Amino acid sequence: MTITQQDELEGLKEIGAICARTMRAMAAALEPGMTTRELDEIGRAILDRHGAVSAPQSVYDFPGATCISVNEEIAHGIPGDRVIAVGDLVNIDVSASKNGFFADTGATYQVAPKSRDMERLMKDGHRAMQIGIAQVSEGKPIAGIGKAIGKFASDRGYTLIRNLASHGVGRSLHEYPEEVATWPKRGDRRRIDNGLVLTVEPFLSRGGHWAEQGHDGWTLYSEPAAPCVQYEHTIVATRRGAVVVTLPH
Ligand code: CO
Ligand code: CO
Repeated sequence: MTITQQDELEGLKEIGAICARTMRAMAAALEPGMTTRELDEIGRAILDRHGAVSAPQSVYDFPGATCISVNEEIAHGIPGDRVIAVGDLVNIDVSASKNGFFADTGATYQVAPKSRDMERLMKDGHRAMQIGIAQVSEGKPIAGIGKAIGKFASDRGYTLIRNLASHGVGRSLHEYPEEVATWPKRGDRRRIDNGLVLTVEPFLSRGGHWAEQGHDGWTLYSEPAAPCVQYEHTIVATRRGAVVVTLPH
């Protein structure tokens, strides 16, 4: 959506904060021995309590309230019987709606004990997202997001998953301007309008190039297999840069 009125921004910020709090509460509850279904139930209860509805479930009939992807799974992991173990890399992605507004946020965490390699990948994954967000401002090229993230990734020897794009969001989970590349892409001449609502969610990897769908029809795996992290915010473009709406307050 493109925001033109203050009450639209307030509606978006309300669901943005709910998504952020849900994701953080799930991350705080992460511990070895729990199943991903138990973790999802914690998220669902928080969404319920705030009068919010899971977006993947309501929009795409996804079998869970949130997406939980562990280790070799990089996105759209289905909550279930999988038991979380020490050292696991866990991506939690929460998207939900309230009063007709949608927000989307995600982050990757490591269950202790943390390894130095994974800590560096997570820190750089978060930084890749911030570098993309810094390119968002009225009138700037949409392709500038992927260009900046691509430079950061290649300078440090990382790869980017090139078929999992960021997207417009706000009045539905995926909408105009549809796919926004977080990797260098030629030929995209679109510019960012004032008030445009979108996600920035690069998938930074140590060797992965593509996301490939598994047999369950949802879970995505890195091809070739490699560690991968994702960090995602929903943001609003303004004349003075991006406003992040998926913050917990
Ligand atoms: Co997401
Ligand atoms: Co998203």
